[in-house]
This record gives sequence, structure tokens and C-alpha cells, in this order.
Amino acid sequence: DPWCQDSLCNGGGFCCAPERATGSKLRKFADPLPVLPVKKPWFKEDGKTYYHLTMNQFKQRLHSDLPDTTVWGYDGMYPGPTVKVHTNEQVYVKWNNCLPDTHLLPVDQTVHGAYPDVPEVRTVTHIHGACVRPESDGYPEAWFTKNFDRTGPYFTRKMYHYENCQQASTLWYHDHALGITRLNVYAGLAGFYLISDENEKALHLPEGEFDIPLLIQDRSFNADGSLYYPSQTDPPVPGLETSIVAMFFGDTILVNGKVWPYLEVEPRRYRLRLLNGSNSRFYMLFLDSGQQMFQIATDSGLRAVPAALKQMTLAPAERAEVIVDFTNMNGREIVLKNAAPAPYPDGPKPDQDTAAVMQFRVKKRITRIDTSRIPEVMNHIPPLSFKDVTRVRKLTLNSVTDQFGRDLMLLDNRTWDDPVTENPVAGTTEIWTFINVTMHTHPIHLHLVDFQILDRQPFDVSRFTEKKELRFTGSPRHPDTEEEGWKDTVRADPGEVTRIKARFGPFSGLYVWHCHILEHEDYEMMRPFYVLSSQTFL
Ligand code: C2O
Ligand code: CU
Ligand code: CU
Repeated sequence: DPWCQDSLCNGGGFCCAPERATGSKLRKFADPLPVLPVKKPWFKEDGKTYYHLTMNQFKQRLHSDLPDTTVWGYDGMYPGPTVKVHTNEQVYVKWNNCLPDTHLLPVDQTVHGAYPDVPEVRTVTHIHGACVRPESDGYPEAWFTKNFDRTGPYFTRKMYHYENCQQASTLWYHDHALGITRLNVYAGLAGFYLISDENEKALHLPEGEFDIPLLIQDRSFNADGSLYYPSQTDPPVPGLETSIVAMFFGDTILVNGKVWPYLEVEPRRYRLRLLNGSNSRFYMLFLDSGQQMFQIATDSGLRAVPAALKQMTLAPAERAEVIVDFTNMNGREIVLKNAAPAPYPDGPKPDQDTAAVMQFRVKKRITRIDTSRIPEVMNHIPPLSFKDVTRVRKLTLNSVTDQFGRDLMLLDNRTWDDPVTENPVAGTTEIWTFINVTMHTHPIHLHLVDFQILDRQPFDVSRFTEKKELRFTGSPRHPDTEEEGWKDTVRADPGEVTRIKARFGPFSGLYVWHCHILEHEDYEMMRPFYVLSSQTFL
């Protein structure tokens, strides 16, 4: 198109957005599910394990009908390689930023994305769910670029220390750079970090090639195979200098970096580690065979006992581990489907495309006798008690209109740059009460700690004032079955009060809590919190 030269609109503008290859043009279940390689340690010394992982840009085939897509990843792959560690293993990771100088996706220059004097791409890696000291947590302002690190003389790389002082769990690493997390993660900066322990090993769960991590993400593509992500001028908002991308919903679903893949399975039990790594999309996952999935783990570790579920909801960043039994299903083709309704009232309707996630083809011969089990008891989860609670915080999830006329989602009516207001003391237990007066469900994530969900209760939003008095309109509900146990992310539904209970520590210092809808997180729905050292109060 002669009117669409780069020199005319510099790319990125809506005037020359290439035609989008809509999801429905791509065949479903055309490509095998990628097996994510396990990262080999760099070296081991004095009981410490060292890794290095390098962020870079490369091309990868995301569907056999698409041209190669330029993506970002770690060590030349999207998703990044899987890091496997053991509880209490002392792990050091050198995170290298070897990304090019320009972003792959449109950066909004009006929020924290704008650092005019930093020409290169900013990144910082956070291990979601990790129990780490603040200096290794990947604080959003601890970003560094290929040639610049304002936090110290490390320049192009950072060595982070992970003490793994936590039980077996499915964690994941992803980028967390201030104001551009949604773009960096969308470009591909995510991978699995799996912690194992002795308790888990003794349970005889399906293991090895029968233990499969599944990273579920939605993406849209341009016809040339490049990733499509809307810019703030697309579509332009009349009368406004800028609008924001308030949420993003892609029209294809990728698992482990392939669009709608299939997996050939043996007629036996499998352990599937489901992770919703999408920017905004929620999933309600079920198998179209109608069979049950036996949930064995939540975000932060094994459940007390397995739960047989036909369907489970996963908000962005939530994990669920399930055992699926394909025994006696030889010859069957089973689709993992998504029943989630329209993500928000005025949002895109669910469609044929995002209703499918991936397919299992039960056709292989048994290569090894299946000695795995679905255990009866897996973990000890201490029951909730209120005796040890030292503080209850009421935190509002609200929205405001900023000076550009944009709707921003906030935590307790404060923005990222406001001073710290949540400062629990290490070793103490608090209840955090999320009062959602917005129209959306927000998956709220706290760094450092695991928590338990107490309950949810509807309240009268129209009579809610700054005094934060709550008029309940219904009785409290227990958490959903798939939420029983340890969590690090909780869905706070609109018009409801969601309560969690967490013991802060063991470390003190600066961390963050935020909505894990990445478009909300980047636009002010993230706050620092500071864990005070208990010595201060002795
Ligand atoms: Cu999954 Cu603050 O992160
Ligand atoms: Cu996190
Ligand atoms: Cu949100």
C-alpha cells in the first residue's frame, strides 16, 4: 500500500496497522505442544547452584500457518527454559539483558513507561511466588538495561539469590519492569520455576515426561506473523491526547508458545501444571470429555487433599496442578476448553476461538507401567485462626479518571508514587480486606508471602464512603474449591469484600502488591509495601 510507507506514519500508528490475522484463520491442533527444556546449571560450588539466563530477541514459529514471529525470551526461547530447584537449595541466577535497543510493542510515553534518557529496553526479573530478600525480588524500579543499571555497578546483569525457603510449588519467572511489564511479558518474557521437596517426592505423583507444565497465554497476530498489541492511538479516542489499553484480549490461545497445540498422551495418569500467564484473560478450564481433573496443588503448594473438579477458574498468574487420568481412553481426542464468559460487560464476547485451549490425543502405547497415584492426603495446611492476627487492613480497589480522561484502577485510592502505607511487621499475621468498588474482577497478588483466602462477601457499593464502613448485603462465602490451600494471587470480585490472611516475613524490606491484570498493574494498580524488621519493635 503506497500510503502506508514507514516514513509516513513511523509504523505503530493506526493508519498503517497491518491487517490482523484473526485467530479463526489458524487451524486448531495443528502443532505439537512444545516440551519446555530444563535449564542446566552454569556450575555448582560450595553447595550453591549458579545459573545464567539471557533475555534476547529472536524469531520463533508459533503456528505452522503463521510466518515466524519476532519474540523475546530467555536463552533464545519463548517460554524461557524451566528452572527446577529443591526446597532450601541456594540458587543464584545471573539475569542478562541482551535485548535490542528498541521495543517490540508500542510504549505509552505518558506513564511510568517513559524514561526519555534511557534509550534501551528496561527489564527486571521477578520469580512469582518466591520467598526472597527484597534485593532479589525484582522490584519494578530495580530495572536494568543492556548497558545501564542505576541500582549499582552491575551494568548489564544482575545476580539474584533465591533461598527457596518454601515448599514444593509451581512458580514462574517473568519480567516486572515499571510501566512496561505488560509489553515485556507479552513479547515473551516468562518461564517456569519449579520447586520440589521430599514430601512431594514421597507421594508418587506422575513424574518425568508425565509431569507437564502448561503456560496458557492469549495473543493476536498481524498478517505478517508479528505480534499485535494495541497502541494507545489504536483506536484513537476523540478529543483525548491519549487513551490507555485498559485490558488486552488476544484472539488465539497459546500453550507453551504454540497456538492451540496438541499433545499425544499415553493411556495413563498425567500431572499437568496449569499456569495462566495471560495479560488480562481469565479462563474457566474443563475437559470436553466431561471427565474430572484431580486438583493437587494451588499457587503455592500441594493441597491438603486432592479435589475432583470438572471445571476451574484461573485468573492471570494463578496456578492449579491437576492429575488427569487418560487410562482406558485410548483413541480419544480430548480438548481442554475455556468456558469463561465475556471478560467484562463491555468487552469482547467469548468466541469459538478462545473457547479452545489445547488437545490431548490418547494414542501412544504405555512405555512404562503407571505406578503413580492420586494420593489421599498430601499436605498439612494449618487451619485458619484469628488469635494471631495483629492487624486488619481495609483496602479499597477503586477507579478514578486522570487528567487525560483515562480510567485508572487504583489500590486504596493511591498511585505508585505515593508513600508506603502498608508496613506489616515481620513475623506478624494480618488480614487484608479488599473492598472492590470497581466493575471488574482484579487478581490481587502479594510478593513475598503466601496467604489463605478467608471469605468473600457482597456489600452495598452505592452506600460505600471514604470511611470504609461496610454494609453487607449477603452472607460470607467460602473460597472456591480450587482456592483451598496456599495462594499468592486472589480474585477480588466486583461488589464484594475479599479477605485474605498472611503471615509477613521471614524477610523485611520493600516489596510490592498489585493487580495481576498487567494492563492494570502498569497503569497504577500497583503499590509498594514495606515489611518492618521485628527488631525495630523489641
Ligand atoms: Cu507475577 Cu508482581 O508478579
Ligand atoms: Cu510475584
Ligand atoms: Cu485489576
